[in-house]
Amino acid sequence: MRTRIFAHRGASQYAPENTMPAFQLAYEMNADGIETDVQLTKDEIPVLIHDENVRRTTNGTGFVQDYTLNELKQLDAGSWFSSSYTNTSIVTLEKFLQWISSKTLELNIEFKNNVIDYKNLENIVYHMVRDYGVLDRTTFSSFNPRSMERMNKLDPNVNTAFLTTSKVRRLTQFVQSIGCNGLHVKYRVLSTQLAEESDKYGIDLRVFTINRPAQMSRCFKLNCAGIFTDVPDLAMSKRANYPNNHNPIRIHPFQRR
Ligand code: G3P
Ligand code: MG
Repeated sequence: MRTRIFAHRGASQYAPENTMPAFQLAYEMNADGIETDVQLTKDEIPVLIHDENVRRTTNGTGFVQDYTLNELKQLDAGSWFSSSYTNTSIVTLEKFLQWISSKTLELNIEFKNNVIDYKNLENIVYHMVRDYGVLDRTTFSSFNPRSMERMNKLDPNVNTAFLTTSKVRRLTQFVQSIGCNGLHVKYRVLSTQLAEESDKYGIDLRVFTINRPAQMSRCFKLNCAGIFTDVPDLAMSKRANYPNNHNPIRIHPFQRR
């Protein structure tokens, strides 16, 4: 399998991040998958938004967790990006799943629970993804290792990845110790040794956020399992230059615990 190209928050260089236009563009650009961020509203509805606070990506202020879904839907999540996206609304996870379930795209759902550890987030999201029949093409990820442990307990066969921006020793061992089969790292954490070690232990190594051609080349040469990019069109054309790019298919998934 080639290094998988995930549109980071959708094709977020070209349309407002984590909105339907950004997801639709990623699909049209033939990305392999979509990465998105999930948080919970006051009424415990999972919604796709990166920040805990709505300020940066909407015309509102305050925390997602203090809004009901109905209140959140009134916000404009597009005009901060460009006036041509005025009145684009925040997407619920359910709407996203409805849209993606008829397609073959892979999913990476990132739990944004390292600042606010939303109670029930894993449970609610897991059951919704399962009900839409896309569990086997979904990887759940988080910077919060306790959240990944909770997911692995909920369903030991689910794909989970630990996210990190830090170069720490014994990272692959840590990933194994919390029962994950994936490791998502910031580009500066990537090294040949980490790629080799991940391969040895059957851990899917994916790298964010890869927007520059030189970074893409390195990830393709190291046969990383995936990259997250705001420019999936560029990554797709770049990958075509690496015919030997190949990441082993995990026939025997990493055995947890
Ligand atoms: O999931 C990869 C990447 O999205 C993690 O960082 O801050 O862009 O959500 P962030
Ligand atoms: Mg993310």
